[in-house]
Amino acid sequence: MAVFADESDFEVPDLRSAHVIVIGNEKGGTGKSTLSIHITIALLKAGFRVATIDLDTRQRTLTRFFENRQSWAQTAPWEVELPFHHALDRGSSANVHDNETMEFGAFADAIASVEHAYEFVVIDTPASDSYLMRLAHSLADTLVSPVNDSYIDVDVFSRVHHDRSRRGEIAHYADLVLEARRKRHLVDQGIIDWVLVRNRVASIQSNNSKQIAISLARMSPELQFRPMEGLHDRVIFRELFPIGLTALDPIEEASRGGTLSQSQQSARKEIEALVASLQLPERNAGMAHLQARHVWFERISNFYRNLREDM
Ligand SMILES: Nc1ncnc2c1ncn2[C@@H]1O[C@H](COP(=O)(O)OP(=O)(O)OP(=O)(O)O)[C@@H](O)[C@H]1O
Ligand SMILES: [Mg+2]
Repeated sequence: MAVFADESDFEVPDLRSAHVIVIGNEKGGTGKSTLSIHITIALLKAGFRVATIDLDTRQRTLTRFFENRQSWAQTAPWEVELPFHHALDRGSSANVHDNETMEFGAFADAIASVEHAYEFVVIDTPASDSYLMRLAHSLADTLVSPVNDSYIDVDVFSRVHHDRSRRGEIAHYADLVLEARRKRHLVDQGIIDWVLVRNRVASIQSNNSKQIAISLARMSPELQFRPMEGLHDRVIFRELFPIGLTALDPIEEASRGGTLSQSQQSARKEIEALVASLQLPERNAGMAHLQARHVWFERISNFYRNLREDM
């Protein structure tokens, strides 16, 4: 386990418990870790107390990023914000069941140690389906799924037919999320606000990109997710990983004599717009988030009402 910021640095916040943001998608390489990093840094920069959990015990991308950031922080000329970070260790026993039990215990401890002392917990998940990954999904207050502009990515949500206007069957990852929602509702009547974020969008608008947007908009009422414009494909979203920085950090002070490049400005705007679109709770007991979810569910019931009237 790696812990960077000192837990005792923080006072007990006014929220009853942390808002859990899970970044998940069973499809590999869609940008889960990239979004986990940028959402975490944006929340830290907005002054929130943030804890992070890396459930990807194999790749540990989020952990590697914060290790890099911590080492940069030691000599940086400005304040470098760090979350309270947990990296789950991988069970090394020959017995799968023992490994699952160990990993579950470590995850439960990680959640218990942060849920009352932090305003947000950001959990990065692996692409593989596992008990722990499913459990994390059912704990989400907000589930963020990055999706690239490709029908291969869309196919994990709803099966894509050659006639793309046809409704496809619910596919394996969407099924996993719907199951997590059912479980969550049974346990505490909690609602998972599921946000599909387009990632690595090409800067030149293509017909493919438009078709993907239409497909996601069609699927959204049935699967009950909110489709969002997310991040374009930009070098700045990947080039700063080795030094643990992001476009939100004042890197221009170090390298460009105080000027902000066009790419950095656009990247910042995209991250800020993305975090705003998540409609996360403000400090006053999560009411804003609750209201946003009510608006969303009302919009869905209106959609179905209009559909019935049109039939
Ligand atoms: N918006 C973006 N612009 C440019 N590069 C990006 C963007 N988002 C992600 N990438 C790059 O795409 C690759 C995959 O991203 P990332 O590792 O975040 O995905 P992941 O879903 O966490 O992958 P895995 O399933 O393996 O955990 C990385 O090389 C990352 O730097
Ligand atoms: Mg990852």
